[in-house]
Amino acid sequence: SETYSYVKRDAKYKQLTPTDVEAFKTIIGSKGSIITDEVPSDLDFYNEDWMRKYKGQSKLVLKPTTTEQVSEIVKYCNQENLALVPQGGNTGLVGGSVPVFDEIILSVANLNKIRSFDNISGILKCDAGVILETADTYIKENGNYIFPLDLGAKGSCHVGGVVATNAGGLRLLRYGSLHGSVLGLEVVLPNGEIMNSMHALRKDNTGYDLKQLFIGSEGTIGIITGVSILCPPRPNAFNVSFLGVESYEMVQKVFQKAKNELGEVLSAFEFMDNKSLKLTKSHISSPEPLEGEHPFYVLIETSGSNAEHDSAKLETFLESSFENELILDGTVSSNESEFKNLWSWREMIPESSAVGGGVYKYDVSLPLKDLYSLVEAVNERLEAAGLSSDTDASTSVISAIGYGHVGDGNLHLNVAVRTYSKEVEKCLEPFVYEFVSSKNGSISAEHGLGFQKKNYIAYSKSEQEVKMIKQLKNIYDPKGIFNPYKYV
Ligand code: FAD
Ligand code: MLT
Ligand code: ZN
Repeated sequence: SETYSYVKRDAKYKQLTPTDVEAFKTIIGSKGSIITDEVPSDLDFYNEDWMRKYKGQSKLVLKPTTTEQVSEIVKYCNQENLALVPQGGNTGLVGGSVPVFDEIILSVANLNKIRSFDNISGILKCDAGVILETADTYIKENGNYIFPLDLGAKGSCHVGGVVATNAGGLRLLRYGSLHGSVLGLEVVLPNGEIMNSMHALRKDNTGYDLKQLFIGSEGTIGIITGVSILCPPRPNAFNVSFLGVESYEMVQKVFQKAKNELGEVLSAFEFMDNKSLKLTKSHISSPEPLEGEHPFYVLIETSGSNAEHDSAKLETFLESSFENELILDGTVSSNESEFKNLWSWREMIPESSAVGGGVYKYDVSLPLKDLYSLVEAVNERLEAAGLSSDTDASTSVISAIGYGHVGDGNLHLNVAVRTYSKEVEKCLEPFVYEFVSSKNGSISAEHGLGFQKKNYIAYSKSEQEVKMIKQLKNIYDPKGIFNPYKYV
């Protein structure tokens, strides 16, 4: 297809034979599973990504049940020059989790056991294929802890998958990045060796911190099979407030004020523009958060140990925000169903922007003051090219929206389209990357590079850095069998 027109299958990789399939069956045994092209549609879920933008042609999905089996499979692939793609929940948003051609898909979905949880220290050890929400529920029920990462895909994405992408999510503002909370990993290297570093230590300065290499490596130098992670106590009290705001400048002022006045209880600060809310409204039927329409919306979450204290703080903050004319309207959740409803208006934006046909996603870090200017520039560009219009419903673009984790300087620009087209793509790329680079931002704040941004790494990394990434890849995966055609 056109998506793949600029890459060619590398002939150095062997094509799968029936003998290979038999060898894998012997390794995996009866407990794991193997999906072949006997019924081709059985492979569809694994070959196609969440956005339905990238689709490979793998003829084999392997679902081992133990780390040793993963190691045996990888040894075999290395020896036979068979390329493979590590896959978790397949919710990644940059085309990194699916094959480009006929690479074997190694799904860790059957590595799904909680190994241990220490309810004094809050350290969870689990297999990579445990679903994020399952891990969160487990630690909630076994000591009232919370997973230090939350995102809209929690019901499908894996603990290993979020580590492999170094996902950021909705509460990074409070709990920091996985580079801080992951304490140890178990990883199968491209030659099949197992790196066992499932430590449970907060402090360990004994040489290079090797696990960091795999956090955010997107399946290019190791298959994560186990994760050891420090989880914080679960707050007893949660409040969510949804605000209408006049301008992006005011969004920044509200953020500054929230940091100063809500400080230790602030756990999320998200924003969205008017178009994001409109698009979501066309997809979900939940009660709208506010009565009137506003140019921007902000969602603030507080969480702490004392409900009364947090509510009082939030009320005072909201009152003075009104008085100082920083916000136009606002609502606060007072029970769990309202809390969930308010969050759904934020968490449903990704799905709402994908259902109309397709979505071009840009996930960037920018200096806060410049964050929204990218959305404005892109809207102007699409309109000038006749690809988008507020009055004409027949253009290729349905809506170009901006939302994201303002608290982390992370904007999501989504261009929702009726169908994927080269014309729209050319209008957006490399323009978006040039814009971000000109402001010293990052072309990927949290989703990674995968296949989508494979040709654009130089907008965010220097030549020297790219050289070192390639050197590392060559040390550990000289045959290039892990996740080929992606960013390395
Ligand atoms: P996959 O999609 O299967 O894989 C992602 C990448 O990691 C691929 O390159 C794959 O090869 C590799 N990989 C997967 N598992 C392993 C493993 N065990 N070992 C080695 N490599 C592996 N991201 C954010 O950062 N913040 C958000 O708020 C956020 N919200 C989202 C909301 C929705 C609705 C969706 C669909 C996605 C969202 N994401 C978000 C994207 C995010 O990248 C993924 O949800 C998550 O990190 C991927 O986990 P996964 O298990 O699905 O991995
Ligand atoms: C989000 O913040 O909602 C996620 O990163 C997913 C997305 O932007 O699609
Ligand atoms: Zn995000």
